This record gives sequence, C-alpha cells and structure tokens, in this order.
Amino acid sequence: MDDNSLKQKFREIYGDGEVRLFAAAGRVNLIGEHIDYCGGPVLPAALDLRCTIAARKNGSNKWRMAATTTPLTAELDLNGLGEYKDLKWGNYQAGVAYVMQSDGFDLCGADLLYDCTVPFGSGLSSSAAIEVATAFMVSALSGESGGKKADLTEIAVYSRRAENEYCGVSCGIMDQFASSRGKAGNAILLDCATLDFKYVPLKLGDCEIVIANSNKPHSLVLSKYNERRAECESALGTLSKALGVKHLAEVTPETFEKSAEKLLSGKVKDRARHVVYECDRVKRAVDALKTGDMVLFGKLLNESHYSLRDLYEVTGRELDALTESARTSPGCLGSRMTGGGFGGSTVSLVKKDKVKEFIRETGEKYRAAVGYDATFYATSVSDGAREIF
Ligand code: GLA
Repeated sequence: MDDNSLKQKFREIYGDGEVRLFAAAGRVNLIGEHIDYCGGPVLPAALDLRCTIAARKNGSNKWRMAATTTPLTAELDLNGLGEYKDLKWGNYQAGVAYVMQSDGFDLCGADLLYDCTVPFGSGLSSSAAIEVATAFMVSALSGESGGKKADLTEIAVYSRRAENEYCGVSCGIMDQFASSRGKAGNAILLDCATLDFKYVPLKLGDCEIVIANSNKPHSLVLSKYNERRAECESALGTLSKALGVKHLAEVTPETFEKSAEKLLSGKVKDRARHVVYECDRVKRAVDALKTGDMVLFGKLLNESHYSLRDLYEVTGRELDALTESARTSPGCLGSRMTGGGFGGSTVSLVKKDKVKEFIRETGEKYRAAVGYDATFYATSVSDGAREIF
C-alpha cells in the first residue's frame, strides 16, 4: 500500500489526526548462507519490499494493533507484556516491546497499523522487517520523550532477541541487521562475530539481481534449521580445542584440508566444509563486485547453491528446480537459494537486456518441473529502518 493510502486507512480505523510512518526493509542475502550463526561474513542487501507502521500515540498504556494484510488485531497492555507469548497475530511486535521494555525503554501507548509488502513465507525476512520497524518506532518514541534511544545496530540486536527469546526461533543476526542498516544501492558486508560492517556498492555493470519466490513456503521453526545449528556447534566443539578457534568461520580452507578435515566425520564434516568454503566465497564475491567481474560473481552464486544442496542439505526439490531453470535460461550468470532454505526464494544474476526472456523461460521451466508457478519480484535494493516524512 502506498504511504498516503496507508495514512488514510489508519484514519478510517483510529480517527483523524496526525499519523507518522516508520519502516524497515525485507532483505535478500547475496551470498554467505548459514554463516551468521557461525560468526562469519555475510553479504545481504535491504529491499524496497518493506514493513511500514502507521502510528500515533494514544495517551493510554496500550498498543492497539491492526494490519492491512489480515483482519486479525491485537491489543497489548504495556504493564503486562510478559503475558503475550501466544497471540494469533502480533507476536513479533509483542516480543520487541517486551525485550525493549525489559531493557529500560519507555514504551508509550499507541495506535498502530502494520502494512507489510514483504510476502510472508517468501524467505525475504518479513518477520525481521516487522520486528525492526517496531524496534525503530519504540526507540524513536522513547527517545523523543526523554527516554532511552537505540542506534541501528542495537535495533537489529533487540529485534533478533525478540525472535530468539520471545518467538522461539534461534535465527542469527543477518536478517535484522540488513533490515535495519540497509542502504540503497549497496550490499552490507557484515562480520557476524563482531557486527563490524562495510557497505559494498552493488555495481553490477550490465547485470541485475532477479529475485524469485519458489512458492514453497518455508518455516524456520518446522525446518531443520536448529539441527544445522547444532551440527555446526558440534563441529566447533571439536575444532575449537584442536585449532584454538572461537568461531567455525575462522577456519580457512587451507587449515580445513590440512588439519580440521580429519578430526570430523559424516554429516558434521560436510556442514563444516560448507561453512569454511562459503566464508571464502563471500570474500571472493566482494572482490568480484569491486573489480566488476560479474562472471565470477555469478559462478560463486552457483557454487554457493551447490554447497547448500550437497553439503548443507537445505535446498530441496523446489529451490533446486528454480535455480536450475534459471541457470539454463537467457542471460543468467548464476543463481542460488537465499535465506534459510527448504523453500522460499532464489537470487539470480541476469544480463539486464535479457531479464524479460529470463523470467519467462525460467517461469515456464519451473512450472513444468514442479507443477505450480514461481513469483518474480520487481524490487530494488533500498534503505533499511527509517521514519518516512
Ligand atoms: C534465516 C535466518 C538467518 C540466517 C539464514 C541463513 O534467514 O533468520 O539468521 O541464518 O537463515 O543464512
């Protein structure tokens, strides 16, 4: 919904008067998958698909919440936020409110209307967008009434804590960080061990990024996400003693082949191998972006996907079919799954002048392979969390 229609809708629900807009982005991860919780580098970018909150203080001690995407509503009593663990809708918001209030933010009563254009279940981080927009709003309202304020990194950290501690999903920091710190035209090279980051201009020459949703819903809670995390922790348990590393991502490919490899076995070895080589691919992908080597960048996307398919085993039939359809369609230099996997979306690097044909052919092949359509998004790399004036 555009900003004016959202304000209009807000007034229909809550009455006339001033309305403010707070927004945060969905994200695509270009490369560095299943690396954030291993303390390595990732390269996500914020999208112009976003969550926007229309908001107005209401002078009460309650958040009244509605959304443009569901008829469900929720009311949160700010004096008893610990109670709301199992709402039909509004858990992410309740989680952020709870975590930030516990940390000393001054939450004020407000009427809120949520509009999220990040498709749910697409693997493009609709939940992070909701959390980060909420945390940004809490910080802004708290700060201007003389209370505590958070910077964009802290906003990402609170949002992740809400998801981990309140919603029970043990995700890493990547999604919330990209949603908060994103910058138009740039990817973010984030060191997940230290939260140091650099913007990397997305100079893609005669290419562009195409995002496609496999329309196989993915669910991190139901999926094997936690199992993969545990396998990586098990690998780290073995290697930290032997090699003196604090994070699995510190192991280089050379050390892996020379000394780590023989200490691990079975699936745990495969998972660790993915992590080690994926970290290396992130560094090479950043160099490829700097030198404008799109052929190499595309090749690294493909290699990342194969590793997620064969070693990390988080792709599945749909994501494999969609990336394979993409790779064999006009203008494609590389294609991979993005996000947690087991469904969700893919990211492809495609020659600008071939995008139309690419989308048509990839779509046809995918439908022939799985029996239903993929959705292609016309979206661009955008800013993260902000107030919209
Ligand atoms: C999900 C999680 C992230 C990250 C990715 C995989 O999106 O929320 O923290 O682990 O999966 O890279």
